[in-house]
Amino acid sequence: MGLTRVPGLLFGGDYNPEQWSEQVWDQDVRLMAEAGVNVVTVAVFSWSRLETAPGVFDFGWLDRILDLLHAHGIAVDLATATATPPPWLVRQHPDVQPVDAAGTRLEFGSRQGYCPSSPAFRQGTVRLARAMAERYRDHPALVMWHIGNEYGDHTVECFCEESARDFRRWLEARYGTLDGLNSAWGTSCWGQHYTDWTQLAPPRKAPGPVNPAQVLDWRRFSSDALLACFEAEREVLKEVTPDIPVTTNFMSVLHHLDYWKWAAAEDFVSDDAYPDPADPQAPVKAALSYDLMRSLKRRPWLLLESAPSAVSWRAVNVPKEPGVMRLHSLQALAHGSDGVMFFQWRQARYGPEKFHSAMLPHGGTDTRQWRETLALGADVRRLAEVAGSTTRAEVALLLDWESWWGLEAPESLPSDRLRLHSLLLSWYAPLHGRGIAVDLAPPDRDLSGYQVVIAPNLYLCTAEQAANLAAFPGRLVVGPFSGVVDAADQVHDGGAPGPLRELLGLRVEEFWPIPDGRTQEVSAEADPARGAPALNTVRLTARTWSEWLELDDAHALARYRGGPLDGRPAVTRRGTVTYLGCLLDDLTPVLDEVLDTAGVTGVTGAELPPGVEACRRGDHLFLLNHGAAAATVPLPASGTDLLTGRPLHGSVVIAPRDAVVLKY
Ligand code: GLA
Repeated sequence: MGLTRVPGLLFGGDYNPEQWSEQVWDQDVRLMAEAGVNVVTVAVFSWSRLETAPGVFDFGWLDRILDLLHAHGIAVDLATATATPPPWLVRQHPDVQPVDAAGTRLEFGSRQGYCPSSPAFRQGTVRLARAMAERYRDHPALVMWHIGNEYGDHTVECFCEESARDFRRWLEARYGTLDGLNSAWGTSCWGQHYTDWTQLAPPRKAPGPVNPAQVLDWRRFSSDALLACFEAEREVLKEVTPDIPVTTNFMSVLHHLDYWKWAAAEDFVSDDAYPDPADPQAPVKAALSYDLMRSLKRRPWLLLESAPSAVSWRAVNVPKEPGVMRLHSLQALAHGSDGVMFFQWRQARYGPEKFHSAMLPHGGTDTRQWRETLALGADVRRLAEVAGSTTRAEVALLLDWESWWGLEAPESLPSDRLRLHSLLLSWYAPLHGRGIAVDLAPPDRDLSGYQVVIAPNLYLCTAEQAANLAAFPGRLVVGPFSGVVDAADQVHDGGAPGPLRELLGLRVEEFWPIPDGRTQEVSAEADPARGAPALNTVRLTARTWSEWLELDDAHALARYRGGPLDGRPAVTRRGTVTYLGCLLDDLTPVLDEVLDTAGVTGVTGAELPPGVEACRRGDHLFLLNHGAAAATVPLPASGTDLLTGRPLHGSVVIAPRDAVVLKY
C-alpha cells in the first residue's frame, strides 16, 4: 500500500495557481502532464483568498483548478491553507500575531504570523479546515491533506500573555501542584520559589540566564503547542474524510519539534529538504535527515519539498549544477521516499521567493532547468516499482529531543560547544561512507533488531531509558556527557553517568572541556581480553571535550597522553559496551572495531570509492556518485539498472553525478 492511492512514486511540487491568470493554468497543467507530474500541493498560503471575511468563503477558483488538475490526471495534496492567517483575522484579533522573547509583537506582512496558543487562530484554522474538508471530501483529485506548513519554521514559540496562560495550564497538567513544580524546577536556586500559578511565565528575556529546567519545559510546551494546532485540524479532517491520509511537511533534523511525537500524529511522514549545493557535506547531511524521516514511522515517507536548483533564503544562493537535482532526488528515493516533490512548480514573478528556483523557471521551456525536470520525471517513472519498499538497518543512532534541548540550553553548561546535530553527523558520516544502513531511534524504542546502537549523546537520560539500553544485547556505544541529568534537568545522584553507571562500569568525576583551538592526544592501549590494542590506530586526537573517568569494572581502550588528564582513560569498554569520554577527531578506529565485532558490513559488501553512496531499498541497490570523478563500484549481484535498462554484473563505472539503481 503506497502513501496515497496514486500508484508508483509521486512526482510534482507546490503549485500556487492564485499567483497566475487562468490562461497560465491551462499551460501549467499541459506542461505538468508532459513532465509526468502526478501530484501537486495546492493552497498552502491561500487562507486570505479562500476566506475573505469571517465565515465568507470563496472557493470558486480552487474548485476550478482542482477540476482542471483532475482532468489532466494530476492528483492534489490539498493544504488546509492555514499557514498564514489572513489580514482581517490579525486586525480583528491582534493577539493572533506572535510576540518574541523581548516582548515585541511581530507585524503582519510575512507568513506564519501566528501565536500557537491563540484561541482566535486555532478556531479560525479549525473552521477553515472543516470548510475545506466538507467542500472537497468527494473531489476525485484529493489524495492527501497537508496541514499548516513547516510548523516551527518562522514561528517556533510565542511569549505573549495567551501563551503564558497556556504554558501554565500545561505545567499544571505536568506537575499537578506548585510544590511539584518548585521541586522539579529547583526554584530554591536563585530565589525563584513560586507561590501562585499566575506568577509563572515563559522564559522571556531576563537579566541573566533563565532557569534551565524552565527552558526545558518551555521547549516541551512549545513543541506541544504547535502540535496541538496540527491535531485540532487533523481531528476535523479525520471526522469528515477519514480515508484521506494526513501529513505536514517536516523540516529535516529540526531542533525545536519533537518529531517522534509529531510523526505519531500523522498518517505518513513528509519532509522538506534543502541541502546547500555549496556545502561539500550536503549529501551526508541530507542522508542523515532522510534516514530520520524513514525511521520516524519505520516506513516510506515523502520528500514533499526540495529545490530544483537555488533557494532564495540563504545569504548566497548557489544553483545546482547539471545533474545534481536528479542525483539529490534519487538520493531521497534511495533513503525511503516514495516520491520527489519540489518547491515549486512555476517560478514566482513577485514576492520574497521570486528568485527561488522552480521546476518551470522564468525562462520557460527552452531552459536547462526544464529539460532536467522532464528527464527527472522520466527517471521517476522508471523507478515506480521502488514505491513502498523498505530498508533494513543493523545500526541505530539514538536521538532524543528532550535530551537535545537540555544539551543546548543557554548559559548553564560546562561547555556550549556540544551540538547534537554535529555529534550525530560525526558518527553518521563514517557509517554513510561505508554504505551501512542506519536508522535513527529514540532511546526508549525496542532496539533488539539492531546489531549496533550508538548514542552520540544522551545528556538527559532517565532510569527507564537506561534500563532499555541495558537490555540491548548487541554492541552499544555511548558518547560523552551522557546520563548527566534526569527529566527535570537535575543532575543524577552521584553525578554522571547516572543511571548508565552500572552499564558503562564507570563514574565521570569531572567534566574537562578542552578550550577552542587546542587538542588532547589520546593513545590506544592493549585490550586485556585480546592482549593487543582493540583500536587499530595508536594515536588519536580529542578536541572540545574530555572527562576525568574513574573505572569500576570497565577497562580502558585508550588513554589521554600528556595534558591535565595524562594517563587517565579516554575510551572504555565493559562487556559489549563502549564509552567515549571525549570527542575524537576521527571515530573510524572505534567504529571499525565495533562494526567488525558485530559483523556489520556495508550494503555492497565491499569498500566504496570516495563520494559514492550506496543504499539498499527492498530488492534495489542505489549507487550514487556524489564525487567529481568517475567511480568503479563492485556489485554484490548481477541485475538490471532500472534507470537505463542495461544488464549489470561484476562492477559498474558511474560517472560523476550519475547513479545506478540495480534491481536484483
Ligand atoms: C519552505 C516552505 C516553502 C518555500 C520553501 C523555499 O520549504 O515550505 O513554502 O518557502 O521553503 O525554499
